[in-house]
Amino acid sequence: MTTKSTDINEIFARHDYGARALMPILLEIQEQNHYLPENLLRQVAEKIQVPLVQVYQVAAFYSAFSLEPRGEHIVTVCMGTACHVLGSQLVMDRLETQLGIHAGETTADGLATLEGVNCVGACALGPIVIIDGSYSGQMSPQKVDRLVKRLAKKET
Ligand code: FES
Repeated sequence: MTTKSTDINEIFARHDYGARALMPILLEIQEQNHYLPENLLRQVAEKIQVPLVQVYQVAAFYSAFSLEPRGEHIVTVCMGTACHVLGSQLVMDRLETQLGIHAGETTADGLATLEGVNCVGACALGPIVIIDGSYSGQMSPQKVDRLVKRLAKKET
């Protein structure tokens, strides 16, 4: 899996020290790596002088953070009731086939992480697929094929 390298000292230079720097530093690391690598969490704890367990508690509490490697793109399928009735399982099945992974997994090349979530509040437009925070409504397996092609093109 490919991940960008993080210059942790560049990140530290942009923030104060102490516990209040923890969230913004973690957000930058998450943004650059798509997850929070253990070695960087250890450096953060040491640098801002916060116990490592506290760093992990914050990282585990907020859904914005991941302790597991994630893909360059986050592909989310709403599996709520309304979207389910409108065919979200077919959409998820096609995404799993196209990406070669199951929900909750990341492609071996690091291109994408596939997730299922409950209602995202746009039921009338279901089935909903969210890619990197951008919503697409009334999805179908055919539209999924085009979405996946666009994702692959972004990488080339
Ligand atoms: S069930 Fe999918 S947006 Fe509500």
